[in-house]
Amino acid sequence: MTFTVTVLLSGAGSTLAALLHAAQHGAPFTIGHVISNSLDAAGVHLANSAGISTTVLPRVEFSSLSEHKVAVLEATKRTSPDLVVLAGFMMVLPEEFIATFPRKVVNIHPSLLPKYPGLDTYQRALDGKETEHGSSVHFVDCGVDTGPLVAQVRVPVHLGDTAASLKERVQAREREMYPWVISGIACGEIQAQERGVWYSERVRTEAAERQYSVFPIS
Ligand code: GRF
Repeated sequence: MTFTVTVLLSGAGSTLAALLHAAQHGAPFTIGHVISNSLDAAGVHLANSAGISTTVLPRVEFSSLSEHKVAVLEATKRTSPDLVVLAGFMMVLPEEFIATFPRKVVNIHPSLLPKYPGLDTYQRALDGKETEHGSSVHFVDCGVDTGPLVAQVRVPVHLGDTAASLKERVQAREREMYPWVISGIACGEIQAQERGVWYSERVRTEAAERQYSVFPIS
């Protein structure tokens, strides 16, 4: 049976592009639908041109933020996803969303969580004189960039880096890691369990080869 994901996005869609590329080149998942909360998200155009159905729910069409969030939940439910994949989706999901898709929502965040949740992580890492930065995939709970960590990739911060150069280095690595994690979940080789995340032996070996940190239940 095909493992089908629904992607939620707000922006440029470079994460969607990486997922799409993987799905078209043998990864064990299909992108069934893309939902955006922004009218002009380039990711929506990308989805359309790849023949993926889309739903666009701009904030201005709703009289309150809570109505907007309900609409996003209802639209996501209609797609019956095996996994909800956040790809640059700028909205904190309400408790009801997480309860509707228990352990079935993942996000990628450009920092070594729990460091630097929220926005502007590249500049904050530079301001913090970090020697390394990176990206984290995690199962989503009701917080901002919180929830059980699944994988992290680290990159060095170079002397003279700007937020833009650091972003480029991090994004190059996260675009490989996110499809890899989603493939692991699709195959049942990465599982969110009651006490934390479980990984198959194969996935753990591959994570080491790819230099990803994983966070097995101890
Ligand atoms: C990604 O770098 C990801 O880490 C973060 O938002 C960015 C989205 O980029 N969650 P794009 O909109 O997919 O190009």
